[in-house]
Amino acid sequence: MYRNRIERAQQIMRERGVDALILGPGSDLLYLTGYNIHSSERLTALLVFAHADHRLYIPELEASRVTDPSLSLVIWKESESPTKLISEELAAKGVQTIAVGDQLWSIFLLTLQEDIKHVRWIPASTILAPMRLIKTAEEVEFMKRAGKVADRVWERILTIDPRGLTERKMAQIVSDLLLEEGAEDIAFNIVASGPNSASPHHSPSSRTISEGDMVIFDYGGPLMGYNSDITRTLHVGRADEEELKVYKAVKEAQQLAFLAVKPGIPAREVDRAARDHLGSLGLDKFFIHRTGHGLGLDVHEPPYITPDSDLQLQEGMVFSIEPGVYIPGKFGVRIEDIVVVTQQGAERLNLATRELIEV
Ligand code: CO
Ligand code: CO
Repeated sequence: MYRNRIERAQQIMRERGVDALILGPGSDLLYLTGYNIHSSERLTALLVFAHADHRLYIPELEASRVTDPSLSLVIWKESESPTKLISEELAAKGVQTIAVGDQLWSIFLLTLQEDIKHVRWIPASTILAPMRLIKTAEEVEFMKRAGKVADRVWERILTIDPRGLTERKMAQIVSDLLLEEGAEDIAFNIVASGPNSASPHHSPSSRTISEGDMVIFDYGGPLMGYNSDITRTLHVGRADEEELKVYKAVKEAQQLAFLAVKPGIPAREVDRAARDHLGSLGLDKFFIHRTGHGLGLDVHEPPYITPDSDLQLQEGMVFSIEPGVYIPGKFGVRIEDIVVVTQQGAERLNLATRELIEV
């Protein structure tokens, strides 16, 4: 799989006149090699040439982490400068155009740019983003399984009485459930209760969840590197009329956006389906973000489902549909599913109930 991906990247590089590609730690490196490593001051970098073999520069103390024998390693010692080794190699090959990973730390790029003059630098996403944008059947399968993990976690959250728990404690429980159900890691985890639910990217706090709260849960974690991302909103005790009205509006907006998805339409039409519905109910001013984002090895990646995106949807694209309404000082509601574009329309990768549950 990885060999094919590198060959495909080399083919695109040759088509675009790009001689070399440099990737630091991050999702592009993971995509091309399967190697997952944190960013640090010790540089790990994949160097791919359009017309020659690739190599992975790696610090000596991490070399034993690499288990794939097909990756040709350049192991650098603590006394060596990896950027110097890389720039020497690039100079020896006489490269003219270099694509640099979007996630490579600027300190490494600035050092390379000091060493290598008179070349053209471009972002690696121009080569890799189009590859990652369309998921293969295998990638979709990983994401379906990740989605099922998230769904099972929601079923289990609904069995817990949240009264008296802090948001932070509840988030800890959600993290434990994610790992128990099969996630490899926690990608993110939002628990936002009461007035905090009106803040879309709230960090779980010491606030105690209590009777009358709306509570937004938004969490995800990877399986085979591919992430899940689900949002559900529940109510503690009986919801009042305004809460029920807002919840219904968001649920309908989410469904209308889902029904709008089909290959060949611009992404903005999916956003519009949700936004227009909320607008017809006077709630669009409280919908303060885009309708969705792509998902894969990164939690946020193309395609972005925004009001002005002309990007044409294609079979195999995977993204979230997550309209929300946030009434400052009062409460918020968001409902999010991941969908994959199919030949006919879209398929949800999350099947957990979207009904308002009063716990
Ligand atoms: Co989410
Ligand atoms: Co999301």
